[in-house]
Amino acid sequence: MNMDIKDARDEGQQAKSEMAAAALASEAPTTVDLPTAWAVPRLLTEAELTPAGRNLLHKIRTRTARVAVIGAGYVGLPLAVEKGKVGFDTICIDQNPARVAKINRGENYILDVKPDDLKSLVAAGRLRATSDFSVLADCDIAVMCVPTPLTPNYDPDISYIENVSDRIAEFLHPGMLVSLESTTYPGTTEEVVLPKLATSGLTVGEDFFLAFSPERVDPGNKRYTTHNTNKLVGGVTPACLTVAYAFYSQTILKVIPVSSPRVAEMAKVFENTYRAVNIALVNEMALLCDRMGISVWEMLDAAFTKPFGIQPFYPGPGVGGHCIPIDPFYLTWKARQYDYHTRFIELAGEINLTMPYFVVQKLTRALGRRGKPLTGSHVLALGVAYKKDLPDERESPAIKVISLLQKEGCRVSYHDPFIPAVDRRQGVIEPLTSIELTQEAVAGADAVLILTDHSSIDYAWIVEHAQLVMDTRGVTRWLGISQGQRGKVVYL
Ligand SMILES: NC(=O)c1ccc[n+]([C@@H]2O[C@H](COP(=O)([O-])OP(=O)(O)OC[C@H]3O[C@@H](n4cnc5c(N)ncnc54)[C@H](O)[C@@H]3O)[C@@H](O)[C@H]2O)c1
Repeated sequence: MNMDIKDARDEGQQAKSEMAAAALASEAPTTVDLPTAWAVPRLLTEAELTPAGRNLLHKIRTRTARVAVIGAGYVGLPLAVEKGKVGFDTICIDQNPARVAKINRGENYILDVKPDDLKSLVAAGRLRATSDFSVLADCDIAVMCVPTPLTPNYDPDISYIENVSDRIAEFLHPGMLVSLESTTYPGTTEEVVLPKLATSGLTVGEDFFLAFSPERVDPGNKRYTTHNTNKLVGGVTPACLTVAYAFYSQTILKVIPVSSPRVAEMAKVFENTYRAVNIALVNEMALLCDRMGISVWEMLDAAFTKPFGIQPFYPGPGVGGHCIPIDPFYLTWKARQYDYHTRFIELAGEINLTMPYFVVQKLTRALGRRGKPLTGSHVLALGVAYKKDLPDERESPAIKVISLLQKEGCRVSYHDPFIPAVDRRQGVIEPLTSIELTQEAVAGADAVLILTDHSSIDYAWIVEHAQLVMDTRGVTRWLGISQGQRGKVVYL
């Protein structure tokens, strides 16, 4: 008997009960279910699988499968810990020897991983790390979590996926599942990974199984973790989907099968494009409101009181991180192969890239009103991380702002509790180290520029002691600043 989506979900429910369903139920996210019109993905019964597939499914269900997570970064390490926690023998393969050594010492380096979880898994021998791909010969499952950056020309750089696929192909054996989690353009799994794995001479869906299942982790998010964030999965064949679905259901509350890897790949890029476009829209409102003399913050706070049909997004100094500024360009690149020009994506990218320049322009104006030229002024930047409370400065717009200020001959210092130093490789012109946030440092700067709204900073104290504050995150609007101090604060 064939299983449809409903049956599949029932099976997922059963897996959940093994993981203390009662406790987990309260964490379940509220989302829509897929309509039955799209109930195309068909999960196979055991009898419909090849012996290699049946054997793998058995190992997954009994959690005796050996799992390799390739790329132990923000995505890979939390994933490896989740797999280890439910009993899978897990190994991280990473080319960075420092990361490998840290994992093997039980030392955590990723915010979303609980240090004790990692330590106890390593101590119990259930999690370890290596740079040696030959361990794949003894693994049943290989999950790819390697970077997908852009080339200098804003084209996709899928060389990491290609290299790792070649290495997996060397050790591919019957009864193995390969799953790609890196964010990439629709078609990568079938057009890039599959041909490389097929060089092994094995047949997909019969001997080995291949799926795409995008990672949706939101670093630093306390409510939604790898475990309780719905997971999409698309298999190259129904058998691939069946084993990949079973694998992810062991650790994730709700797994949603889709009809192909391309749908899952496109859904992931769309999710990030959705954010990029909506952030660009509120950034454009900030540019317009500035000209019209309207506070964009007051306007947005007012607009978002509508209880339906609108979702809050706020402006800022630009977009950063490894996803939002990058992933939409993967789609743009792929669209060109179909004679399609992704206008929204390009426009959003253009507006978001304008924001650091606008921050500098507005700061120049604010200083000018106080009779101070930007050149030669001392600006204390608060935050260089791309997002609050994270030790991650990749693609951070704060770094772009700092480099623009340095170019203008501004004396810049910065404070970030998470980022001790920034150098030329990260984009600044003059390397800087984070200074201590003393009253002297705050009062001595011609302007304090809030670029990242880290929670540990006492913004009321900043406003009290600073000569001028430029707030690009709207964080001081909640402070109830006294009438006398209000003129000190300039918002984006
Ligand atoms: N960081 C996020 O918030 C996030 C969220 C969702 C999806 N993603 C996607 O997940 C993927 C991974 O992102 P990340 O943030 O975890 O990256 P990361 O840079 O934190 O980690 C990648 C790891 O892969 C390792 N690596 C690179 N090449 C390798 C190779 N050839 N062999 C073995 N190891 C190799 C690196 O040493 C590094 O430890 C990307 O496609 C990204 O777009 C990231």
